[in-house]
Amino acid sequence: MEYPVTRLRRLRRSEPMRSLVRETHLEPGALIQPLFLCPGEGVRKEIGSMPGVFNLSIDEAVKETEAAAALGIGGLLLFGLPGSKDEQATGAWEEDGIVQTGLRALKQSAAAKQLLLIADVCLCEYTSHGHCGIVKKSGDDYEIENDSTLGLLSRTAVSLAAAGADIVAPSDMMDGHVAAIRDELDEEGYEQTPILSYASKFASSFYGPFREAADSAPRFGDRRSYQMDGANLREAMREIDLDLGEGADMILMKPAMPYLDVIRAARERFEVPIGAYQVSGEYSMLQAAFAKGWLDRDRAMMESLISIRRAGAGFIVTYFAQDAAKRLG
Ligand code: PBG
Repeated sequence: MEYPVTRLRRLRRSEPMRSLVRETHLEPGALIQPLFLCPGEGVRKEIGSMPGVFNLSIDEAVKETEAAAALGIGGLLLFGLPGSKDEQATGAWEEDGIVQTGLRALKQSAAAKQLLLIADVCLCEYTSHGHCGIVKKSGDDYEIENDSTLGLLSRTAVSLAAAGADIVAPSDMMDGHVAAIRDELDEEGYEQTPILSYASKFASSFYGPFREAADSAPRFGDRRSYQMDGANLREAMREIDLDLGEGADMILMKPAMPYLDVIRAARERFEVPIGAYQVSGEYSMLQAAFAKGWLDRDRAMMESLISIRRAGAGFIVTYFAQDAAKRLG
């Protein structure tokens, strides 16, 4: 059947008609909002490169959690800015670390029962050098050690589960991290805590604004010896395969918009829940265009999220979480 018998425009003529045939939907419960916890009280400091995103002291984070819960948002992804940093990333795993303390406080609020508290597991915000693992230096050369980092990561995951994290989300990209974390969680009695692994994480320039927000830029070198080369899709499938084999319950793909094909490939290949992280640079790039009046704020925001959903992500970590939830009503 060809034109004029087939007229695809018949189903585009009104909003009720478009709504009836819409293939992809989004709901607030599929959105996860990142939160950056910092020391102090009454702190709500906007991040220069991320308008509308803040470093929050714990009391402010409680208010933010209430706002997110009222909008029906699915969860919060917690990051921390510790008071001090060292080579062993002590702030990542100590009992009274910033995220651990924050989790205990958030757990007290009724709002926390309506959404999931997801704790990012990584060392880069807590190490003095800003790398995601232990650094071994020899002369001018350095190596991000894999196996010696695993112990610190599992220790971090256990301390976060103990503080009340509903899900732990390792984003370090060390080999064998999921197995190490699963082992330690099980050993310590947290066999019910799921692991959301950032299995497919590319070494991306789009993390730039996050590193300002979390003060986690590497002081030397870059992350290309542990995060993936942006040119590789097959390698991403291997990463996911390995993480699932090691016991990951869900996977997170990141960044999102520049890697929609990778999300689609993963969706077709793996029968597990898949989330995608619309990262800081994706958010800032859109915000910059909104500020210039070059793009329509609401429409571009929703289109970006629907695209990620259509590519195959069941849930989306996004700095637009509250704005989008408001739009979805
Ligand atoms: C920690 C981590 C990063 C992001 C999430 N977890 C930064 C990085 O790998 O440098 C980036 C998120 C974003 O850009 O919004 N390893």
